[in-house]
Amino acid sequence: SLPGDVYLLNGEIKRFTDRADPVISVIEPQDGSKIKISEFARCSKEIALQALGAASEAWDQGRGIWPRMSMVERAKHMSAFLEDFKMLREQLIDLLMWDICKSKKDATDEVDRTTEYIRDTIKHAVQMDDETTGFTTNSGIAAQVRRLPIGIVLASGPFNYPLNECYTTFIPALMTGNVVLLRIPRNGSTPHFPTLSLFQKHFPAGSINILSGSGREIMPPLMQDGRIDYLAFIGQSSSANAIMKNHPQVHRLHTLLQMDAKDCAVVLRDADIEEASTAVVTGGFTFNGQRCTAIKMVWVHESIADAFVKSVCEKVDGLKVGMPWEDDVKITPLCVPEKPKVIKEFLEDALKHGAHILNANGGRFGKSLVTPTVIGPITAEMKLYRDEQFGPILPIASFSDLNSVPGPLEWIITSHFGLQSSVFGSSPKEVGEVLDIMSYHVGRVNLNTPDKRGPDVLPFGGKKDSGMGVTNAKEAVKSFTVESVVATSV
Ligand code: G3H
Repeated sequence: SLPGDVYLLNGEIKRFTDRADPVISVIEPQDGSKIKISEFARCSKEIALQALGAASEAWDQGRGIWPRMSMVERAKHMSAFLEDFKMLREQLIDLLMWDICKSKKDATDEVDRTTEYIRDTIKHAVQMDDETTGFTTNSGIAAQVRRLPIGIVLASGPFNYPLNECYTTFIPALMTGNVVLLRIPRNGSTPHFPTLSLFQKHFPAGSINILSGSGREIMPPLMQDGRIDYLAFIGQSSSANAIMKNHPQVHRLHTLLQMDAKDCAVVLRDADIEEASTAVVTGGFTFNGQRCTAIKMVWVHESIADAFVKSVCEKVDGLKVGMPWEDDVKITPLCVPEKPKVIKEFLEDALKHGAHILNANGGRFGKSLVTPTVIGPITAEMKLYRDEQFGPILPIASFSDLNSVPGPLEWIITSHFGLQSSVFGSSPKEVGEVLDIMSYHVGRVNLNTPDKRGPDVLPFGGKKDSGMGVTNAKEAVKSFTVESVVATSV
């Protein structure tokens, strides 16, 4: 049984006793069995507003214990938290495997990079503080410039990295003296529960409050209240819009947003087919394609399209499908119950408009499982051409000329999204042309390598509808502070 019915409010771990409507997620793997993977009760609007009250008291217009503490003191609290967090490693890996069906390897990576992220955040926050607390004298003015916390941060992370990406939304905020309300994702809530007592132990009451529940239920009332200073949100852009528009003074709301994405790979005529197909399969199917950085559209030059597609399909059919704890498993059940239906609709729409499933094992559905599927040729009238599928489908289109319409460059320029893209090829001229265009439209371009966020020292963020701001620890600690000047004539 999973401890999915607790939350942290004003330094107290509370247990739901009066909620009759817990949300239960069940996966149904191929063998017909049913496995309960997660359960949580929803915090009500009233509980969410109580948490906001607690955060507001802890902030106390910047006079609270936590915002007033020196960075070095806060670093001691965060370091002590980190030591305890590391002790949970095995438990957190297990919970990630159970709750969101992440393979053991990927779950281990998620926990370990979270540990690294906390460590980096502490380091960069202390460095930033060292750099900004000195005096400066110029033109008859002596001044001290400090970076101070902003206020009350409402943070929310996604189900696909429920620990790591939640932590990127709030650990830098907390470290720099802000107070936090964290809304944890519905799927992926359970890895947070063993951490509640750690937050309770290491941070002052009310400085960090952790709520489970539906974002659409609890975030609008929190915003309507008007006391939220900062929204740090990773998830769908429709949710971000629905949340933000509630704030009565949205012009003064600080934001860090990471949202939808449709990364594409452009495979040029002189690409190394083996290297490109390996990268595209890794980029397209890691964690079932449920990554913002997954490759979700492929443009391949027509001269190598057949050989490239053959190589991709062979590799995709070789991906092991199974449960998260099996060795070498690559494709696991989808933990969001409605997801297989959504994927089916994408496929049916493309098939109706003339596409074909290209790999032998593609297009098979179990209750919670979708076999990895390569589909093409993709054309502009299909939903898969523009919309984000966020699942184990790889759409492929071919092109004759980079600048043809429709074609890869026009697709990149007119896409609403701008997270990452990749280009595979060897001619400096053609590769350069693609890199140049991509760089203006996405946050990161990958050359002969699949899209991904890491290493986490690199700035990670999107353009257009994919986001605002970057989440690597160094930039994030800055983004949760504002410069504040005290000046006098000398
Ligand atoms: O889902 C969005 C994540 O930021 C992707 O991270 O590229 O390390 O899998 P990743």
